[in-house]
Amino acid sequence: MKLANDLFLRAFTDERLPRPPLWLLRQAGRYLPEYRASRARFPSFMDACRSKEFCAEVMLQPLARYPLDAAILFSDILTIPDAMNLGLSFGVGEGPKFASPLRDERAVSALRKPALESLQYVFDAVAHCKQALTDHVNGEVVQRIPLIGFSGSPFTLACYMIEGAGSANEFAHVRRMMFQRPDLLERVLEVNTQSVIEYLEAQAHAGANVLMIFDSWGGVLSPSQYRKYSLASITKIVAELKRRLPGIPIISFSKGANVSLAAQAQLGADALGIDWQTDLAEARASVGAKITLQGNFDPALMATDEATLRRAVHDAWSGFDPHHRYIANLGHGITPDANPELVHVLLDEIHRSANA
Ligand code: CP3
Repeated sequence: MKLANDLFLRAFTDERLPRPPLWLLRQAGRYLPEYRASRARFPSFMDACRSKEFCAEVMLQPLARYPLDAAILFSDILTIPDAMNLGLSFGVGEGPKFASPLRDERAVSALRKPALESLQYVFDAVAHCKQALTDHVNGEVVQRIPLIGFSGSPFTLACYMIEGAGSANEFAHVRRMMFQRPDLLERVLEVNTQSVIEYLEAQAHAGANVLMIFDSWGGVLSPSQYRKYSLASITKIVAELKRRLPGIPIISFSKGANVSLAAQAQLGADALGIDWQTDLAEARASVGAKITLQGNFDPALMATDEATLRRAVHDAWSGFDPHHRYIANLGHGITPDANPELVHVLLDEIHRSANA
């Protein structure tokens, strides 16, 4: 389908762009009062995710406020473990919890790739979001901006599945299993890898234009552990998706793993997410000129003030070319305490600085 604004897709090519495209990690969410109002209609977060109408409605909310260059499916990375029947719930103010975490050999051997039908609600949400992004212009159907589909990485999903919750101690159960029973961790990773391949492929078939892999916890590992337990499975996924879906750009984001950027550059992804703990110029030097970088404003800036934010945007691009293979974004998800008005400032300063 024709795109009214394809700046985001052009950032995956060698073209020099007039300005970088911009979207925000977690752009739909609790920092927006209209999100909180829509969300209040559902008792549980996963119930909300099962409603394609809700997903499309909140996916559009940030786009109604801001001229963003990409939309992201509204869903969660924990849909796959949920479909594996590990008893997912989201307690109020507590984050995700699994009633049956994978702590022993029996639980790990019983783990199976979920049937895709149990995730059909996500593919329906993708199709519904896609439809909500289309307009009729002069008798032609046009998609406003590209739609991003996403999944957690096998390691990040394994973290929640084994720990049973988000972790105050950086997933100690997972790291213990890695040392004592690496065979069990590897089996979980293999089931997750096959699940993520099918899941992302189905999102692309339902209409996603770009796919992103969130490896939120790869950074709790040492560089050699990271390559073995996280990067290897992301590499497998990307190789398989490149074979099945030629032409669909893939973004991989391993938060906290910037020391391994040179290794990430070899994984086969079109773009790498960069968190705020790395300078963009240094990231560019590590990955070379052929990989698109996405990031990396500190989400903390979105709860500061206009002058501070403008200065930070300006400084972030020192020694860095924002016109070539670059997607402006935050270095991690926007937080519930962010000031929605500052998103206008961020956009304005990005447009200005790119023209300076
Ligand atoms: O607009 C968007 O960016 C799309 C939606 C999106 C959500 N989660 C919605 C959500 C995306 C891309 C995610 C990814 C996700 N989910 C990640 C990877 C990104 C990252 O931040 O590293 C992770 C680790 C999760 C798991 C997860 N889901 C957590 C830790 C939480 C927060 C729990 C809490 O209460 O703070 C969620 C819930 C969640 N996912 C919310 C939203 C908007 C908030 C819950 C609510 O509205 O009740």
